[in-house]
Amino acid sequence: MSEKRSRSTAGRFIMVTGASSGIGRATAARLADAGHTVFAAARRAAALNALAEEHPGIHPLVLDVTDEASIDAALQRVEAATDGHGLDALVNAAGSMVLGPVEAVPDDLTRAQFEVNLFGLLAVTRAFLPAMRERGSGRIVNVSSVLGRFALPGTGLYSASKFGIEAVSDALRIELAPFRVRVVLVEPGVAATSLYDSAASEQTRFEGALESYRSTWTAGFGFPRRLLKDAVSPDAVGAAIANAALAANPRDRYRLGLRNRLNIRLLTTLPTRMADAIKARIAGVSKTPGPVKPAAHHLAGIPDGGVSGGPRSTDSDNLTATEAR
Ligand SMILES: NC(=O)c1ccc[n+]([C@@H]2O[C@H](COP(=O)([O-])OP(=O)(O)OC[C@H]3O[C@@H](n4cnc5c(N)ncnc54)[C@H](OP(=O)(O)O)[C@@H]3O)[C@@H](O)[C@H]2O)c1
Repeated sequence: MSEKRSRSTAGRFIMVTGASSGIGRATAARLADAGHTVFAAARRAAALNALAEEHPGIHPLVLDVTDEASIDAALQRVEAATDGHGLDALVNAAGSMVLGPVEAVPDDLTRAQFEVNLFGLLAVTRAFLPAMRERGSGRIVNVSSVLGRFALPGTGLYSASKFGIEAVSDALRIELAPFRVRVVLVEPGVAATSLYDSAASEQTRFEGALESYRSTWTAGFGFPRRLLKDAVSPDAVGAAIANAALAANPRDRYRLGLRNRLNIRLLTTLPTRMADAIKARIAGVSKTPGPVKPAAHHLAGIPDGGVSGGPRSTDSDNLTATEAR
């Protein structure tokens, strides 16, 4: 493949991390179905192979974003498969979520949250960026979240990692503009993926530490139920990310859904005390300790069957801060 290959042609080389499930998987499938060569990267080889069987154009790539050797091996494979051209676009969608009061989350889970969501994204970006910069073309799409714009009780550590992605992307966007490498942020609201079930099952590792908060977290320690109820489909988010990766003139930020956009505006511009009252209400955190509810099922705060039961199929508005006032 020629070094002078144009970004505007069909059949770009795109890597999507976190492609074994949820949003990353949906994004990779969309891009492959649109005729691009997609390196679908994650740790679970079987899930990637299944994706490749369903979608010609998918190249499974086993990758742990927290492992330097794994990133280096992925880089070598992409270099070889693209005849030294490198990636036209990198979609950083790999991520995990830890939920719980800041004090209660153990140190190892706190570090792991940053290792995957922020340091992993940085390491992958630094590996694949030189080819783009030297070529004078390329795109990096970083999957943040509305929770990268504001934190709710329980999302402090997840939000901290996503705030980090926002900061890094804001700097990179300006640093790379002279090299014609675009940096795009996507800030989805709630999507129906396994992210929340995984966070809930991790909480069983620190149930004891949650006890002190049980009387003030009246709705339990999981992600607010009614936000999960309104989750959009991963494919709706994947469509927006694919657009961010392919659009000739992408926006700098994609905020998905009118209500999410309103809530970002509201919760980042209201006086702190007013915003805090809304956030406490969303998360079901009371001002004073109340009667303690039984721990069973409440720990996860997630409806039976998780969130995958009934997603909306469209990119609808799904964060209900405006309703919480
Ligand atoms: N779901 C939502 O409501 C929502 C909202 C806003 C933003 N997001 C963001 O969207 C992205 C995708 O999340 P999702 O909701 O689709 O969750 P998901 O279904 O749990 O997918 C997470 C993906 O990340 C991969 N991953 C995790 N650790 C990794 C590691 N160390 N190395 C490589 N890959 C790793 C997982 O693959 P393996 O386990 O196979 O490695 C999986 O493919 C995340 O960045 C998340 O923060 C999600």
